[in-house]
Amino acid sequence: MVVAVATLLSACKKESEVSNPQQALYDDGKVIYMSRCIACHNPDPHQVGSVGPDVYGSSRELIEARVLRAEYPTGYKPKRETHLMVALPDLKDKVEALYSFLNSK
Ligand code: HEC
Repeated sequence: MVVAVATLLSACKKESEVSNPQQALYDDGKVIYMSRCIACHNPDPHQVGSVGPDVYGSSRELIEARVLRAEYPTGYKPKRETHLMVALPDLKDKVEALYSFLNSK
């Protein structure tokens, strides 16, 4: 089911990519968030999820450190003291897309 939705969403992506690169980046981030993050985070990133905290407004530095390495930027005060989230280093080319999705609307 998730795969079907992701395929559908990425099929729609093509057209917006031509007309609006910012929208394409946002859409790409949304597809990744909806397929890789909502097992723990809320589908609405403004809200607290089943396992993880709200992540709307995360900086590029935070997304990169947290998603790729399960770390935090130096001096950042985490929303939680736990270390439940695993690193997802295969998303290394998707930080900008996730940043776009988590910082608009
Ligand atoms: C296995 C569940 C799980 C998945 C999957 C997951 N997270 Fe998390 N995430 C958490 C939990 C729980 C925390 C709180 C710290 C901890 O325990 O690791 C967290 C913390 C974070 C934080 C730091 C919040 C803060 O300000 O302190 C960010 C940013 C984040 N996640 C983004 C993401 C993104 C983006 C994805 C998808 C690419 C994702 N997470 C996938 C569970 C998850």
